[in-house]
Amino acid sequence: MDAADIAPDLTKVLYTSAEIEARLAELAAQIDRDYAGSNPLLVGVLNGAVMVMADLSRALKIDCEMDWMAISSYGSGTQSSGVVRILKDLNTDLVGRHVLVVEDIIDTGLTLTYLMQNLASRNPATLKIMAMFRKPDAMKIDIDVAYVGFDLPNQFVVGYGLDYAGKYRNLTDVGILAPHVYS
Ligand code: XMP
Ligand code: MG
Repeated sequence: MDAADIAPDLTKVLYTSAEIEARLAELAAQIDRDYAGSNPLLVGVLNGAVMVMADLSRALKIDCEMDWMAISSYGSGTQSSGVVRILKDLNTDLVGRHVLVVEDIIDTGLTLTYLMQNLASRNPATLKIMAMFRKPDAMKIDIDVAYVGFDLPNQFVVGYGLDYAGKYRNLTDVGILAPHVYS
């Protein structure tokens, strides 16, 4: 579905699928250069990163591998607590690997901080982050993000893997969810 299919549910379209595709092509070219010859392991965080992983990996011209983690944040409702439970761990040994974590969105940064500490303890050769979206005004912890697609306003967005109550992940564009949907 695209934004026109669910127009009443969005107050604003922030990025169209064409804009996302163009930005991903730029990031892929950068990653091609930075990881040439190193067969990086792309680590996706389920479920939100499925779309960006699928599109980024296919835009790359270098060899890469992919693996997945599923995590769940402890704490109430929409507030990230930063304490994370691993629901599905990686199948791949990270020792000596060039690991690039592929994320849909960084909000407070608490979830990713915990995850990066966990992954760093497994002794990868390098460990970096690619995030399709980031909300700079919401970040509570300074995280070094090597590759960022777009910075977003501090509002709840859906689409391109991002959901509200499980819905809208299959929206090709990214937009701000209308308050009537969640109030
Ligand atoms: P923190 O705050 O720890 O959490 O960086 C990041 C995770 O929170 C979810 N998240 C969102 N999901 N629209 C969404 O659909 C949003 O605007 C949004 N902000 C944060 C997401 O799961 C992300 O991985
Ligand atoms: Mg996520």
